[in-house]
Amino acid sequence: MPGLFDEFALKGLNLKNRVMMSPMCQYHAEPNGMANDWHFLHYGSRAVGGVGLVMVEATGVESRGRITSADLGIWSDDHVAGLARIVDLCRPYGAKTAIQLAHAGTKSEVADEPNVAPSSLTRFEQYRTPHALTESEIADIVEAFRKGAERAVAAGFDTVEIHGAHGYLINQFLSPITNRRDDSYGGSLENRLRFPLEVIRAVKAVIPDDMPLLMRVSSVEYSEDGYSLEEMVEMARQFKEAGVDMIDCSSGGNVPIRPDVYPGYQVPFAATIRRDVGLPTVAVGRLDHHSLAEEVVRSGRADLVAIGTGLLKDPYLAKHMAEQMGIKLEMPGVYGKFF
Ligand SMILES: Cc1cc2nc3c(=O)[nH]c(=O)nc-3n(C[C@H](O)[C@H](O)[C@H](O)COP(=O)(O)O)c2cc1C
Repeated sequence: MPGLFDEFALKGLNLKNRVMMSPMCQYHAEPNGMANDWHFLHYGSRAVGGVGLVMVEATGVESRGRITSADLGIWSDDHVAGLARIVDLCRPYGAKTAIQLAHAGTKSEVADEPNVAPSSLTRFEQYRTPHALTESEIADIVEAFRKGAERAVAAGFDTVEIHGAHGYLINQFLSPITNRRDDSYGGSLENRLRFPLEVIRAVKAVIPDDMPLLMRVSSVEYSEDGYSLEEMVEMARQFKEAGVDMIDCSSGGNVPIRPDVYPGYQVPFAATIRRDVGLPTVAVGRLDHHSLAEEVVRSGRADLVAIGTGLLKDPYLAKHMAEQMGIKLEMPGVYGKFF
């Protein structure tokens, strides 16, 4: 089996190694969702630091789909230039780039814009009671994902990830906890899958054939009222059929229960989905120790390792992990002499 610092290819995406920068909201965007110097520095420096795939944070396909008004947006053509600059800054250092297309649904805290959800349920106290989407409003959001994907391609991203995790809109549709609809978008598993599958097909239709499509899922809900890992496997099979090429396996977010967090706590989800669905997976969750990250890849439990907080603390983490393993990553310019 290949190791952490071996190349990875999926369709037309060729990564120099299997370290992915996990998507992380920076809460630093302009109020209109535009990228700025913070994002250029933040993403560019992780590319310099040796990450194979830089995943840009959850980016709202609608203004009201942002978690906060300091999140990035991709709901207008005006957003493309700033996002393209992130891509252009990362490319010379050999990093490939991706962007996470997102809609927060109930969990949007954007002021003056009512939040929306499959059902009008008050969740987690801090969130406003959402408006339950009508069928034509659902179709508008599918269209917003499609346009977002078109803009991501125009900005030059190498791949796109649909945010289907953490209790945001797509996850709200999938979960029986948050989806209490009695029309064709709710009730049975087949109905709860309808909106997510429509989003996948819409995105797939506008990205190039050789561009893989990633989807982040909450593998489990940590609630007996939610779906199980077995049901997620069934859902992921349908995501695959609709065009998803790789599953990024996170968990939780739909109920206020936090799992025990320890190194590798979500790896079993990535391993199960990989084995039972037959798609490559991304594992995430405290994987910033080189031995553990290497083990996850070499044992075939996941194809990529996503690192979040570890990369906030150390932009050169990929380089440092490689060093610990006796592998030399090329560093640009004069850095290469001293690093
Ligand atoms: C500041 C911060 C922002 C985050 N924003 C996102 C996000 O935009 N999209 C997402 O899917 N996960 C988000 N996450 C979750 C991370 O991508 C990652 O799954 C989580 O931090 C666990 O990985 P780690 O243990 O390596 O930090 C965020 C995490 C942090 C710490």
